[in-house]
Amino acid sequence: MRIAVCYNHTPEHSARGETRDRIADSGSFAQAQAVLQALGQLGHDAELIVLSDNLRTFISRLENFSPDLIFNLCEGFWGDAHQEMNVAGVFELLGMNYSGSQPLCLGLTQNKLLTKKLLLQQGLATPKFRLAPPEENLPDVAELRYPLIVKPAWEDASQGIEAASVVESLRLMSDRVAYIHEVYRQPALIEEFIDGRELNVAILADGGLTTLPIAEITFAADLPRPIVCFDSKWTPESAAYRGTKPVCPVQLTALETELISEAAQSAFTLLNCRDYARIDIRLRDRTPYILEVNANPDISPDAGLARSAGAAGLSYPQLIEKIVNCTSKRKEQSHASAATL
Ligand SMILES: Nc1ncnc2c1ncn2[C@@H]1O[C@H](COP(=O)(O)OP(=O)(O)O)[C@@H](O)[C@H]1O
Ligand SMILES: [Mg+2]
Repeated sequence: MRIAVCYNHTPEHSARGETRDRIADSGSFAQAQAVLQALGQLGHDAELIVLSDNLRTFISRLENFSPDLIFNLCEGFWGDAHQEMNVAGVFELLGMNYSGSQPLCLGLTQNKLLTKKLLLQQGLATPKFRLAPPEENLPDVAELRYPLIVKPAWEDASQGIEAASVVESLRLMSDRVAYIHEVYRQPALIEEFIDGRELNVAILADGGLTTLPIAEITFAADLPRPIVCFDSKWTPESAAYRGTKPVCPVQLTALETELISEAAQSAFTLLNCRDYARIDIRLRDRTPYILEVNANPDISPDAGLARSAGAAGLSYPQLIEKIVNCTSKRKEQSHASAATL
């Protein structure tokens, strides 16, 4: 099959956030290369097609290559992560078959507030929260129990999250909200801090939904806060990075595994995820609190989804082939239904 592996570049300087946040984007080329290599091993005719600041160039390269399908790794457009859904929208408008979730799901899951409202409506647990938009009075947090965690409402990759995000007082909370407004220029999400085990649940949708072996993120006891902060994800020389380790598969009781898997699969279905996703959960008193739904998670060979797939006995190329199969089946189905019109 001819497969275009699409990923995106980001500019040197971004309009908001910390300068260091750019590191979080630098893995996208390596991820695209790993997928390209796996596709090559599987015998596909695959090519990298990068989305930079010029959409027309991207579209014309895609049209020239004329792929059977697109392996979509785009996480935004030229440094603007909020355009992630619109990149998938371009593939929709071009009538091209692509892997992963569709625009509505990508947009919804990037908005942590909307996601949490939907989860609650479905009876799924998520930490209690309040939203603090810029230029408004602080919300009333009397009903929330300290410690709280303050994070940007629309970022990912632990941008804007560090030990100081976890706060024990109204004054510290208000300082951190001001920081999010100033640096990230968006609402701050204030949540109850769930002091429990952190679990990553990868789901594959090939036919039915499959929960891959669950991973736990473990934290060294001497870290200031047991959280996946920016440094623990992106700064190898930091104590936070060294002290944060994924373990997969993980020790859980059969009941815990069932509750976590059910919650993750319900969230996957509720938010209309497609092909694969990773749900981040904190487990406290047997309740799986959903922190977020990653509808376009990192699928590098050393990231969570591939690690869980490996624990299920799937090699990296086998994981990539499963995603390709999900995507190509859709094309056959849409052709079949078009033929009956
Ligand atoms: N309510 C919470 N309780 C405990 N830890 C949290 C909570 N919210 C976030 N965290 C910690 O911060 C990390 C990043 O938060 P998350 O909401 O997943 O943001 P991102 O989209 O940047 O990954 C989580 O992996 C977790 O370690
Ligand atoms: Mg997360």
